[in-house]
Amino acid sequence: MRNQAKMVAGRKAVEYIENGMTVGLGTGSTAYYFIDELGRQIRTGHLQNIQAVATSKRSKEQAESLGIKVVSLDMVEYIDVLVDGADETTPDGSGIKGGGGALLYEKIVAMAAKKSIWIVTPDKVVETLGAFPLPIEIVPFGSLRLFDNLNQMGLNPQFRRLDNDSLFITDSGNYILDLHLESIQAPHQLALELDRMVGVIEHGLFLDLTDRIIVGYENGETHLFSCDRGAMQS
Ligand code: 5RP
Repeated sequence: MRNQAKMVAGRKAVEYIENGMTVGLGTGSTAYYFIDELGRQIRTGHLQNIQAVATSKRSKEQAESLGIKVVSLDMVEYIDVLVDGADETTPDGSGIKGGGGALLYEKIVAMAAKKSIWIVTPDKVVETLGAFPLPIEIVPFGSLRLFDNLNQMGLNPQFRRLDNDSLFITDSGNYILDLHLESIQAPHQLALELDRMVGVIEHGLFLDLTDRIIVGYENGETHLFSCDRGAMQS
């Protein structure tokens, strides 16, 4: 049933895409439905002259298999609309991303997007971030040292592993640490601290980076939150 809600959100987001746009393709099981519907609209001729920039190998492969033209970020001046999932979001658009391990490319693409839309299920809308472990992408070199530092800071890191217990490797060849924080009372401050840490390439706190949140429900309805990017700075 949750997949139904993801599909509802993903399909709704396609309504924001217009002919001739460069579209950012997010990553994850909700973004999957957006890409799927985008491909359908292109195939049936409802959308024309669309090109896309993908935030992961997975999304690129899915898009190409559906006949969506995928170009590299460096080939475009900007992205008109990025549609991506999120692991948690407040109604005003502060979020945690990276559950799928694509946070670095997702943030790079988000920075290049004129408009960003998150597609989520209702369980992901929270008042306070942090119940979902905060992913950070780190350089493999010296990663145990960095792990220890984060541990001493009380940030409860855990190396992300695959089912076979091997370390999860990102599309850029890095590791992911998930910070088990339970509650993040000062996300901007934590973001600054993580930004300053050598060895941390990027963190999954996406603050001030989205304009709209589409919440999809199993019954087919959607709810829209509009975010004022400027107003979210603190
Ligand atoms: C991947 C992400 C995803 O957008 C996030 O994890 C949500 O995924 P899903 O739609 O599968 O719940 O940030 O890095």
